[in-house]
Amino acid sequence: MLSTRELVAGYDERTVLDRLDLDLPANAFTVIVGPNACGKSTLLRTMARLLTPRAGTVLLDGAAIRELPTREVARRLGVLPQSPLVPEGVTVADLVGRGRQPHQSWWRQWSTQDAEAVREAMRLAAVDELADRPVDTLSGGQRQRVWIAMTLAQQTEALLLDEPTTFLDLAHQVEVLDLLHQLRVERGRTVVAVLHDLNQAARYADHLVAMRAGAVVAAGAPREILTAELVRDVFGLDCVVVPCPVSGAPLVVPALSTPSLAGTATAPATTAPA
Ligand SMILES: Nc1ncnc2c1ncn2[C@@H]1O[C@H](COP(=O)(O)OP(=O)(O)OP(=O)(O)O)[C@@H](O)[C@H]1O
Ligand SMILES: [Mg+2]
Repeated sequence: MLSTRELVAGYDERTVLDRLDLDLPANAFTVIVGPNACGKSTLLRTMARLLTPRAGTVLLDGAAIRELPTREVARRLGVLPQSPLVPEGVTVADLVGRGRQPHQSWWRQWSTQDAEAVREAMRLAAVDELADRPVDTLSGGQRQRVWIAMTLAQQTEALLLDEPTTFLDLAHQVEVLDLLHQLRVERGRTVVAVLHDLNQAARYADHLVAMRAGAVVAAGAPREILTAELVRDVFGLDCVVVPCPVSGAPLVVPALSTPSLAGTATAPATTAPA
């Protein structure tokens, strides 16, 4: 559904992506992983047309995205950037409502359909109880879920999310990832997310893309590509990969960086309780 051909992108002097070819399948949950500064956000922003490539093409269903009208792109691609700026004094309901802008025009103002989309997005992202709160008074995790709600309110066939689980506690991370999985399974959405947690990536991704230094090192089903060699190659980290006892997906366990960490969980207490 989304592809890049010989994509070159970067900032000023710095070339980040150098002739990148990538195909992201439709109706799948793709997770992009890779070390800090390897170009994940640059890739996502270029695919979302927030950054203009220097050369090469981004294709949306086979059509060059730079030739599509902006409004059409916004109706088809929902984007959650890595660190969105919170506008001051705007309430949660208002911000989520901004997700409906691509569906509006001078002849088509706010409708019951828009209100319903906002209500449903707030419910799915579990922020309905925060509807009247100014966004700048929320906690980091609450804010993150408001951004997710805004992206959902756009009701696009594809969602591009840059680290959607940042700031969330583990239970909320699982909730958001379950939601994205559900959108894929029940509504046939195409989901592309950047995640740092390799084990969550392995559990949720249909398609995993591992990047290093602006290039794709491996892409495919997590069970086929996520190995200790890949983790060493991409992150320079020694680890063992075992089947997850709960899902069977590959589970990455970092090797002990120092022998003194061995057995810390079972070491006897050295001081008597008071
Ligand atoms: N606006 C910018 N201007 C100049 N350089 C930038 C800009 N944004 C990113 N870069 C640089 O481009 C490179 C790739 O950055 P990018 O944000 O794509 O990395 P990333 O893989 O998303 O990293 P992280 O995991 O830390 O979010 C980095 O070297 C970064 O410093
Ligand atoms: Mg990033």
